[in-house]
Amino acid sequence: MRFEIRSFGCQMNVYDSERMSELLVAAGHRPVGDGVDAELVVLNTCHIREKAAEKVYSEVGRIAAAARAKAGRDARPLVVVAGCVAQAEGEEILRRAPAVDLVIGPQTYHRLAGHVARIRQARAAGERLRLVDTEFPAEDKFAALPERPRRAPLSAFLTVQEGCDKFCSFCVVPYTRGAEVSRPVSAVLEEAHRLVEAGAVEITLIGQNVNAYHGRAADGREVTLAGLIRLLAGIPGLARIRYTTSHPRDMSADLIAAHGEVDKLMPYLHLPIQSGSDRILKAMNRRHRARDYLAVIERLRAARPDIALSGDFIVGFPGETEEDFRATLELVRAVGYAQAYSFKYSPRPGTPAAEAPDQVPEPVKAERLARLQELLAAQQAAFNRASVGRRVEVLLDRKGRHPGQWLGRTPHNQAIHVDIAGPFGDGRGGLAEVEIVAAGPHSVEGRLIARTGRPAAA
Ligand code: 5AD
Ligand code: SF4
Repeated sequence: MRFEIRSFGCQMNVYDSERMSELLVAAGHRPVGDGVDAELVVLNTCHIREKAAEKVYSEVGRIAAAARAKAGRDARPLVVVAGCVAQAEGEEILRRAPAVDLVIGPQTYHRLAGHVARIRQARAAGERLRLVDTEFPAEDKFAALPERPRRAPLSAFLTVQEGCDKFCSFCVVPYTRGAEVSRPVSAVLEEAHRLVEAGAVEITLIGQNVNAYHGRAADGREVTLAGLIRLLAGIPGLARIRYTTSHPRDMSADLIAAHGEVDKLMPYLHLPIQSGSDRILKAMNRRHRARDYLAVIERLRAARPDIALSGDFIVGFPGETEEDFRATLELVRAVGYAQAYSFKYSPRPGTPAAEAPDQVPEPVKAERLARLQELLAAQQAAFNRASVGRRVEVLLDRKGRHPGQWLGRTPHNQAIHVDIAGPFGDGRGGLAEVEIVAAGPHSVEGRLIARTGRPAAA
């Protein structure tokens, strides 16, 4: 069947979508870019933000309407809802969205091709089969997936850890992704080797709580994320390692030390704090104070003075006063972020904070978000300006708008564009040494100094 996967939300969904695509290909299906012609449409959904479920229902509605508009053909595609909305809503999706054939959660998508085959068989027999598979199965999903393909992007994601045991009071992740599970070290190393052989020069290790990683080695020992990073750094041909997303409580001493010692580990860290007010952090069940976070930042900067920091912030959490919010602004000023994400609090059904009586009115949330974003934007612009004149090695992995323009990321994770005359890399991009010559609010511009190619052995 011709299939299309539409991915929403976080990097883990991007990774999961790739793996679903690979398993569908292995089952004989063919990916197509344009939804108009797909016979199978998978929506890989995100549940973190407001109206997530509503958006899925309207997307399904659009797919069904587009199919109906195709007169004279039996064009109704097989519609699959996957991801965290699937996990959270389950059966309800079948009730509310008649066009949906399969609801499949993030922990069962290795069974996707099998379910699709059964639904197709039923269709061929003139019957309608609708399935929900949102278990947390005992078997290892990753072990059941086909091997990674022979061609990988220059910058690839690799899931090393899934789920979360932290239960921040605003967050659905512990419910949709389940308990924290680390993949075994050998499975991660094998996949990393395979990605590098397939062309990746950068690997971003991903997990909802990636720095809580504690995978088993073959000899039964437990390996931390820092240990894993050191092992990955030994892979010849792998130039850059990143990881996301981390929790401040799990920024262990060995991980901080790795930032100072492992050259391939990029000088950038996404470390969400959510709020600068200890009262709100407590209500959020974050189990750390603002000063604990600042202490971690201080140690990180001691280990790696040029480390660029990013974070997540929620404004208007239930009970947040103007004073609490000012503490967030103060923390942002104290840290100095290279970039950051900020959101208005949105009550997620089933999470404790959604039941809190002291919800903050919408206009107050909007006003606080605007103030916070103004400060964060100024910090990002200042960080970009300060990088002008630096020489850095960048990974350029996408073509820009005009011919010869390449887009990519600096070590500090700034978006960068560089003009390069003639062929570059294998046509898909590569590593290059550049001088940063100009800065904008969201990106910087580089001038090519040299093409650096792939790194040799570690
Ligand atoms: N409301 C607003 N933002 C949220 N996030 C998670 N849950 C919510 C919510 N209920 C944000 C957090 C998290 C990021 C991925 O999304 O900042 O770090
Ligand atoms: Fe959600 Fe908190 Fe777990 Fe992050 S640490 S996934 S915000 S519960």
